[in-house]
Amino acid sequence: MNTKKKSSFSGSLGFVLAAAGSAVGVGNIWRFPYLAAKDGGGLFILIYIALVFTFGFTLLVTDVAIGRRTKTNALQAFGVIHPKWKFLGYITFLVPAMIMTYYSVIGGWIAKYLFTYLTMNGQEAAQDGYFTSFITSKAAPIVFMLLFLAVTAFVVYSGVEKGIERFARIVMPGLFLLIIGIAVYSLTLRVEDGNGSVRTGLQGLVVYLIPNFDGVTPSRFLEILLDAMSQIFFSLSVSMGIMITYGSYVKKEVNLGRSLGQIEFFDTFVALLAGLMIIPAVYVFFGTEGMASGPSLMFISLPKVFAEMGAFGMIIGLVFFLMVLFATLTSSVSILETLVANCMDIFHTTRKKTSLVIGVVSAASSVVICMGYNVLYFELTLPNGQTAQLLDVMDYISNSFLMPFISLLTCIFVGWVIKPKWICDEMEASGHKFGRKKLYIVMIRYVVPVMMAVLFLQSAGVFTMLKSLLR
Ligand code: PHE
Repeated sequence: MNTKKKSSFSGSLGFVLAAAGSAVGVGNIWRFPYLAAKDGGGLFILIYIALVFTFGFTLLVTDVAIGRRTKTNALQAFGVIHPKWKFLGYITFLVPAMIMTYYSVIGGWIAKYLFTYLTMNGQEAAQDGYFTSFITSKAAPIVFMLLFLAVTAFVVYSGVEKGIERFARIVMPGLFLLIIGIAVYSLTLRVEDGNGSVRTGLQGLVVYLIPNFDGVTPSRFLEILLDAMSQIFFSLSVSMGIMITYGSYVKKEVNLGRSLGQIEFFDTFVALLAGLMIIPAVYVFFGTEGMASGPSLMFISLPKVFAEMGAFGMIIGLVFFLMVLFATLTSSVSILETLVANCMDIFHTTRKKTSLVIGVVSAASSVVICMGYNVLYFELTLPNGQTAQLLDVMDYISNSFLMPFISLLTCIFVGWVIKPKWICDEMEASGHKFGRKKLYIVMIRYVVPVMMAVLFLQSAGVFTMLKSLLR
């Protein structure tokens, strides 16, 4: 092991904010509200909350404890624990490497929209075709992506405590205040349409929070369950080595159980607030049909909502994109940090040099992803039936395919090869109590591997294939 002093977070709060910074990202803002609207409102929320504190908790504990106990990154951690399992570190490393190629492209889109609202052109952003014409243009998406990546790389370049932790300490409270502000505003909305019918933000709140059991058959229930599970993965940034890296920066005296509980809570709370902010606003102006998923929610539907709000909507739009930019930056910092830290381990290079090199490599790969919307445009049908371009393909392979696969292997490894005690001992280091220990052991050995296997088969399209065969 190297003799250099290992970087670390200053204490528990620094770790919680940085890890929550990684966890809170576009997943909370554009994916969670959409899923809640699609999957029966409060029903989805209940299932999600139940799963975060059982299933999400198990994955988060596993990653962070591996990191802190081995004091190294995914690429080496698994091999250090058990030489035969070194391969799992390699597969895990693939995920942030793939995500990095497109995350800064999305970050660039957000920066562009913030710029649009800053320059008082928010009404333009609400025009049909604005988003498509921007992402298909040759230079602009690349320029904004480079800007976004430069900020990310600068934070990573500045180090764990002076860069990542300090950045999270400033940005996370800001993000929190902004999102609460917009959520409150969204609940006070009231609109009367041409036929005199009135829709209010509070009615939107009911749509969001009240569980809707209409048409919930067993197979529909399974679908909601799988939606919630894959959302939790992505949202908590687990099974991709990121939380292993962040765990390796946590000092031994930190009470891990408590800190991880705070991270789970924070991530879920922000997701719930994002729903509170988005669903009533979309509902008031466009009804429940207005909810779209992913990029189109954020870059097409919401600008239209802001435009409907009139002049004040331009300010709300500005605040909204500033908030999303904060959320995305802290996430992309965690991805780049993971790549840099892993490479520093292997090549024994300095942080500054490694950040620069990985920054340049990421920039080059992100340019290719930007070109996926013009020069390299194609339409591919994914196993889940969606039409994909280059960015979606990278997203699908990393999130839907690799992540459940890695989790499955990690559960087998921890639950059956090294045994859960290995993790529990780390959670109880320095005499702290591991609150949900029994739950953890049952989950990691029995429940999570089964869930992961089902999720993996679904993402690989096996269920869809079986359905069509049986028809
Ligand atoms: N957890 C982030 C979110 O919810 C997404 C993310 C994925 C961040 C991978 C870092 C790495 O949006």
